[in-house]
Amino acid sequence: MAAERLTGAALEAELDRLLGEGSAFQPSEDFKASALISDTGIWDAAEADPVGFWEEQAGALDWNTRWTTGLDDSNPPFYKWFDGGTLNASHNCVDRHVEAGLGERVAYHWHGEDGSTQTITYADLHRDVQRAANALKDLGVKAGDVVGIYLPMIPEVVVAMLACARIGAPHNVVFGGFSPQAVVERMEVSDAKVLITASAARRKGKTAEVKQQVDDEIASRAEGLPALDTILVVRHADGDAPMTEGRDVWWHESLAAADPVCPAEAFPADHPLFILYSSGSTAKPKGILHGTGGYLTGVAWTHLNVFDLKPETDVWWCSADVGWITGHSYIVYGPLMNAATSVMYEGAPDYPHTAIWWELVEKYKATIFYTAPTAIRACMKWGAEEPAKHDLSSLRLLGSVGEPINPKAWLWYHHVIGGSKCPIVDTWWQTETGHILISPLPGVANAKPGSAGRPLPGVLAEVVDEAEGKEVERGNQGLLVLRRPWPGMLKTLYRDDDRFIETYFSRFGNDTYLVGDAARQDPDGDMWVIGRIDDVVNVSGHRLSTAEVESAIVAHPAVAEAAVIGQSDEQSGQAICAFVTLEGSHETTDAVMAEINEAVAERIGKFARPKRIIWSDDLPKTRSGKIMRRLLRDIAEGRALGDVTTLRDPAVMAELQKHVAARASEED
Ligand code: WT7
Repeated sequence: MAAERLTGAALEAELDRLLGEGSAFQPSEDFKASALISDTGIWDAAEADPVGFWEEQAGALDWNTRWTTGLDDSNPPFYKWFDGGTLNASHNCVDRHVEAGLGERVAYHWHGEDGSTQTITYADLHRDVQRAANALKDLGVKAGDVVGIYLPMIPEVVVAMLACARIGAPHNVVFGGFSPQAVVERMEVSDAKVLITASAARRKGKTAEVKQQVDDEIASRAEGLPALDTILVVRHADGDAPMTEGRDVWWHESLAAADPVCPAEAFPADHPLFILYSSGSTAKPKGILHGTGGYLTGVAWTHLNVFDLKPETDVWWCSADVGWITGHSYIVYGPLMNAATSVMYEGAPDYPHTAIWWELVEKYKATIFYTAPTAIRACMKWGAEEPAKHDLSSLRLLGSVGEPINPKAWLWYHHVIGGSKCPIVDTWWQTETGHILISPLPGVANAKPGSAGRPLPGVLAEVVDEAEGKEVERGNQGLLVLRRPWPGMLKTLYRDDDRFIETYFSRFGNDTYLVGDAARQDPDGDMWVIGRIDDVVNVSGHRLSTAEVESAIVAHPAVAEAAVIGQSDEQSGQAICAFVTLEGSHETTDAVMAEINEAVAERIGKFARPKRIIWSDDLPKTRSGKIMRRLLRDIAEGRALGDVTTLRDPAVMAELQKHVAARASEED
């Protein structure tokens, strides 16, 4: 039986007690008894033959031709999984389930921001994906052509992705929170031939004229977008849209005109399935390129086993946006490959009210819920009274992803949402890894709040020292690396093999993937991920590069120089803090501050706006002129300053500290 859920002061006291105890959590006997994996022997078995382990998992997919080589590692770091095999991703997500008689199973319970609903079955997807695939073909899209997708959380986004996969056209989905400028840039650098977008999107009760904004952005460029032939427009939120003759086509019209039958064509396992742009250490986003057979194998296996999924009875809900890797892998490909039933919600967690998620858990009887720590902390702020309004007893497993989860949020999630009976899987992975690599397996884990648990079977993750890349002693902090290829690993960075090697494989060689996180592995082998070691900031689970934000800020004509850092933030994990120096003649006014914020929103998206802008007359620089961000981080966090003797002008620091103090007192 679920324990009574506490709220208010009683909850606080209970969480403090649990925090003090610091104990680990075992699954209940009930959970264990029916868990897919209830034996720790799987680690040894996978370790004895890692490639064979993944080959066995690949057998769960439908292959047109079976592979000849499990892993071709003859040209590291360009690894090829399941070489010689061919398959089709959309067939594996849809057709084979329909053929197996599951056509009437619900794939998505879609819930609109305005309360409208749609029930989408596997048969519905089968019908729509074929038409959409033919519509793309009619527009001249061929295997290998890139198709951009900039859509809200509506069923069409899933259909669009699968239609691309069906014809071998890699999709390039851009998160709906990115600005039209960021979208158009990503279309340009990937030479997208078609862009699928919506007339309008719902944003907490308001409507954004998405298509108009994209048009304006394209028109503002001298050359427009030379490679882009067509914009396919989904009519949404009662939005009309300006349509340019000869370039723009309505989604519903082109689907209606398309042939209803589109056989799924077999592609090599290594065929590119999608590009997803993600932030790196420089201002230029990285086009992370994923293949097909390996990616699908890793995603299908982890979705099934990390979440202990029983497709016949579970109702799965991943609250991410499809525009991020979490959405690609665990809203679209994973659940569909496993023939799962999912909840898909269009809106934000606080719209139309702050209990909407729990209302939907009750309504759809969701059994597994997967979200980010930042969202859990927001829910904590709204209060345990919100979830208490609803019956959450259908839940049996919870997941967390995107950043380290602080033990208090873990315990709150466990007690308030999980009724103290649901295991929590804290899943570590990245856009680059394609799927979860480190996580407790819920039927066997001894879960420790704040730890992502052991590397999954077959995965070789280590914590190494910076200098030589040698494994550090258990308990010590170091760099997280992956020593062995895994099936979902990125193929390369789109059209940039050099940057791919440089970013991930230059530090310790071609056989050691540098993750970019610092971590500690405890004596039990459980990983404690600490955070990024590069200039990548994690704001509410959104990955941002400080360089990208800086370049948006310095584009403002009044700005002489800017340095951006990530500062720890109780709510969003990290927050953007910008130190800005204006050109001599400009005053540091609120108006300029607002303009700088606006510039970042326009260039990247609203989510990237600095939480704090600190005016500074000068920035700490080395004698060679390099900005020392480490010192800025120390200042912003109120830490004792590290070594300042290498600074060109050490007096800069005292001056800056005054500014930071002034800013802090304004905020109080
Ligand atoms: C970075 C990857 C994976 C989908 C969402 C983010 C951080 C991710 C965890 C976790 C601690 C985590 C890491 C990683 N991260 N999950 N469970 N515990 N940190 O994907 O945008 O590619 O970001 O997110 O720093 O490197 P992403």
